[in-house]
Amino acid sequence: CYLGIDLGTSAVKAIIVDEREAVLASVSIPVPAPKHPMPHASEQEPDSWWQAVEAVLDQLAAGHPDLMGRVRGIGLSGQMHGLCLLDAEDRPVRPAMLWNDGRAEAEAEALQAEGEDLARMLGVPAMAGLTAPKILWLQKHEPEVLGRARRLLLPKDYVRLHLTGNYVTDVTDAAGTWLLDEAQRGWSDAAIRRIGLDAALLPPVVESPADTGTLRPEIAHRFRMSPGTVVAGGAGDTLAGGLGIGVVENGSSFVALGTSGQVFVATDDYRPAPAQVVHSFCHCLPGRWSAMAAVLNGASALATMARLGAASDIAALLEEVEAGFTGPSPILFLPYLTGERSPHNDPWARGVLFGLTPDSNRAAMIQAVLEGVAFSLADGVAALNSAGISVGEAGFIGGGARSRFWARIIASATGLTLNRFADGAHGAAFGAARLGRMAAGDGLVSTQPAIVETIAPDADLRDAYQPRLEAYRSLYRTLKPEFR
Ligand code: XUL
Repeated sequence: CYLGIDLGTSAVKAIIVDEREAVLASVSIPVPAPKHPMPHASEQEPDSWWQAVEAVLDQLAAGHPDLMGRVRGIGLSGQMHGLCLLDAEDRPVRPAMLWNDGRAEAEAEALQAEGEDLARMLGVPAMAGLTAPKILWLQKHEPEVLGRARRLLLPKDYVRLHLTGNYVTDVTDAAGTWLLDEAQRGWSDAAIRRIGLDAALLPPVVESPADTGTLRPEIAHRFRMSPGTVVAGGAGDTLAGGLGIGVVENGSSFVALGTSGQVFVATDDYRPAPAQVVHSFCHCLPGRWSAMAAVLNGASALATMARLGAASDIAALLEEVEAGFTGPSPILFLPYLTGERSPHNDPWARGVLFGLTPDSNRAAMIQAVLEGVAFSLADGVAALNSAGISVGEAGFIGGGARSRFWARIIASATGLTLNRFADGAHGAAFGAARLGRMAAGDGLVSTQPAIVETIAPDADLRDAYQPRLEAYRSLYRTLKPEFR
């Protein structure tokens, strides 16, 4: 068997699959929500990640002791870009600064002002949420805290340290730090020099399927696993999700809708497009790359707006909206609650509800939220297209993909035909398990899971959405100066 563990922003999900990829067990445990100690900040305690992973493994060991003993390889996946700094005793020197932490805006802007050379090498323009600008922020605002740091890890690599005792990251997570030479798939001396980072803090970087060591004996014993179980390099969540649905060949694509959202295309060479704010990162299979538009506010925007609408049951809320659906909502929603990366690169942007009238109701507002996120994904597709990367028929994964209704809206707003898969046998944890399999030496499996439904754009709805998408774009352009 193989175990995949995905450290998300809202939950840790784990899944055990057998040699034929049947899902034998799956567990999800929530992670405490990010804290916002100052404007634009977004932080989680690394120890809360490990506690959630322990809870997941405890549950699997209690419910499936036989399976745990048969696991040959573990793959890790996780939220990307987080800055997790450890002291000489491997204790976090401060809470981790997450992918949606926008504090390092000034630092990112200063890096951007220096031109595109580094961005072309490092896969993406310097942006506040990426790891390196946050290091510059700490140099300025918390130098003594930074001074205590001896190790820098990405979130899932902190979990690996607990499991194996080894400091390692993989090329896909390193890709999101703004410190990796994407074409060479190794740390960039030029970037390290520019950030003024002590290179000794950085872990070795390996390919995602590589064997990064076996479980510490006490961990193996505690969770009823074999001490010979190997842990793969693993991958950032989007990349692991892609492998899970077989997005490997040049041009194959998917849309992911979790807390955040991505439009992702696999490429067989490195294609930097910083001007379009495309993230051109290493793929989790060696010798392959990817191009991704990353939008920051996905299902998280729906959760916030459902809370404002005093709705606790999101599935019931979506049913309410769908029951009254006749066409585009009269309300427009800009979903930029935590700013935006692709295509705006604007950490200052914020959420906006536009066009309220005395007749406005909760259903129209929530429909606007579904459409606003769909329009942001349409902007992501447009960014990729203007970088010369076309997005074809796409897989649709992540928690948001469970809603058929939202899938219909996204297909019509983006013009993409979306394939939905059966619940369970896909997602970042599933892709991570595939990496665990490779690390165990049992070979690559990159098949696409069975498609349960294909949702093509609806021609009438697509026409109706076009002017709304233009109005959405114009609203952002108009408000942009007001956000600062
Ligand atoms: C990608 C990105 C997300 C995060 C959160 O650039 O920010 O994939 O990893 O899930």
